Amino acid sequence: MERYVEIDGKNIKELTSNNNVVCCRLRNSRIKSKQLAIMEMLLMNYDLGLRFIKNGPLGDVKGIVSFLISKDKMDALTERLNRIGYFNEFYLLNFDSEICENKSNIETINPLVWKGLSFSIETIYKQDEKLYEQQSPHNRTFKIVSYNGEEKVLNGYRGNGTDMGRRALPVEDARCLVNLSIPFNENKVLEPFAGGGGIIYMYKYINPNVDITSIDIDETLKPGLEYYGAKHIVGSSANVHLSESYDAIVTEVPFSNNATSSVVEAIKNVYANLDEKGIIVLMCGIQQSKDIANCLKEDLNSNLLFKKELNRKGTDVVIQVWTKNFELYNELESTISTVSKVF
Ligand SMILES: C[S@@+](CC[C@H](N)C(=O)[O-])C[C@H]1O[C@@H](n2cnc3c(N)ncnc32)[C@H](O)[C@@H]1O
Repeated sequence: MERYVEIDGKNIKELTSNNNVVCCRLRNSRIKSKQLAIMEMLLMNYDLGLRFIKNGPLGDVKGIVSFLISKDKMDALTERLNRIGYFNEFYLLNFDSEICENKSNIETINPLVWKGLSFSIETIYKQDEKLYEQQSPHNRTFKIVSYNGEEKVLNGYRGNGTDMGRRALPVEDARCLVNLSIPFNENKVLEPFAGGGGIIYMYKYINPNVDITSIDIDETLKPGLEYYGAKHIVGSSANVHLSESYDAIVTEVPFSNNATSSVVEAIKNVYANLDEKGIIVLMCGIQQSKDIANCLKEDLNSNLLFKKELNRKGTDVVIQVWTKNFELYNELESTISTVSKVF
């Protein structure tokens, strides 16, 4: 099925009688990443058949994107809204109310009419910023092996300050990377550069049923990653032997230029254990992106769903999403092309 829809005066009545229009507002920190936010929402809710509205309402409101969801899937969608990274406020347009009212904090100068139908705006959900704070690397509990060999409990672990040891993936990016991997379709996931466990922690929060394996070359991280619920392997992802197969590989690679060649070797190594319909979601430094993409395209013959640049507090990074699943690639091709034209 197409994952986007264009609404006009002819189809609006039928579409809004069976579906709800949900408007989502971008989190301030990711206000420039609308395309990634749309893809996060679509892939997270792939199993619910969520569709992006190409020409949505409230066009004068900054950072608003609209989606169409079947009315019988609305409860399932609402339950997931606390787990989304790049959007943090959610609204419902009600086309059935007799009086058209704006019962939200959305500020629009236009009349509440879309393609000839009038509507009311209600707030469905606003994310709790306290939860965001609790989930941030500087507040999470983590465990490491300290210099004397004993396990140490830390409140707030952001890495060991070395070139390879920076470990503080922001909450919104951790959620986004997990959600891009279609988390409600996956059973077994691999994180080959697990670090302080930002992705492991968030995967378990988003879908607690997932079976997740982590790898990191730094042996001090093992107790923390196990504490977050991973089956952990200490070693280099470039040569570790894996016996199981995974539905998804989700990772933030070490950004150091010194690490790029071992990251490429690691991707080659773990790709062999990705299921034939599997998906890879990765964040890398902008200067590494080309080498990683070449490896996935030329050496591994993978299918690129999309790659998008993002500025993370002054650091330019790239999110790449690849799949072995040619059917998924075909299905999403026109949706991704449509989303790539959104500004
Ligand atoms: C960018 S950090 C991951 C940060 C993590 N996403 C987080 O939220 O904390 C990258 C990690 O890769 C690890 N690493 C570097 N080279 C590796 C290799 N060849 N195999 C496995 N892990 C490696 C480093 O020890 C580091 O912990």
